[in-house]
Amino acid sequence: MQLSFFISVFLCAFLNVVLAADARSSDPAVIMVPGAFHSPEVFEKVKRRLAQANYKFLDTVALPSVGHVVGRQPDIDAVKSVLYKHLNLGRDVVLVGNSYGCTVIGEAVKGAPRYSASSSSAVVAGPEARGRIISLVYLSGYIPTIQEVEHPETKQDIHHVSPALFNYHDNSGEVTADGDEDLPPQKAFYNFLPAKEADYWTSKLRFSSFNALNATATYLPYTGDFEVVYVIGSQDKSVPPAWAQTFIDQPGAKFTVEQLDADHVSMLSKPKEVTDLIVKYSRPFAHVRV
Ligand SMILES: *[C@@H]1O[C@H](CO)[C@@H](O)[C@H](O)[C@H]1NC(C)=O
Repeated sequence: MQLSFFISVFLCAFLNVVLAADARSSDPAVIMVPGAFHSPEVFEKVKRRLAQANYKFLDTVALPSVGHVVGRQPDIDAVKSVLYKHLNLGRDVVLVGNSYGCTVIGEAVKGAPRYSASSSSAVVAGPEARGRIISLVYLSGYIPTIQEVEHPETKQDIHHVSPALFNYHDNSGEVTADGDEDLPPQKAFYNFLPAKEADYWTSKLRFSSFNALNATATYLPYTGDFEVVYVIGSQDKSVPPAWAQTFIDQPGAKFTVEQLDADHVSMLSKPKEVTDLIVKYSRPFAHVRV
């Protein structure tokens, strides 16, 4: 009798915590950040689907380093300004990045309030009025390694380690996506799209700033601080699965891994599947639920 009383009290307390977490996140904001060379328009299909699924707070971010010669900080600040607008209004947030956009969101969340990926006790911690970050979703992330953040002196110039399609215009500080004749953007980014659509999106590409792409990251969100979901595109020609796997296999990395039958810019080729993943990871602790 007494034991069952305590069990039910405990269960109620536990459920309250879980339900409170759900209630807080019933209307999460979703912030979507494109990769190098890309405009935020590449998220429009996904944004429309999220709106149909009753998501009310949807933001895409135009990276200042696309079309302007700037460093990485303006990219980070652009994401932070949208992020803190939502957090300060008490809204929980899911951040979605594609390619280099994952590098930017990973840096933008440094010091931000979170649902810890490794400990469920974080559910009841932190100031209640403020929103928290639920998860980061990396679509084909082109991201810093643990090694280069912990030992910045070992980080290589991207001239030596970038995808072959990067075309460096060293006198202007611009990088374009047409560096590989055998792998034009139509094939490197959009190999799942019909030819006409691939041509259209290729025509929209702009230069990225070398200094933004070559900057050294200062923070790792994926070693336990945040829930970070790495989505591998099985036919990704820019960050192919084998390369993505090297990020995932790093000792100390704690990704939740998802696979999509997709190319590099999966928001355009697989908008339904990408939307489903965002929905799945817009609940705290999605990775420990069945
Ligand atoms: C690119 O980054 C590397 C490593 O951080 C640095 O040594 C190099 O000077 C940078 N390249 C240029 C051209 O600024």
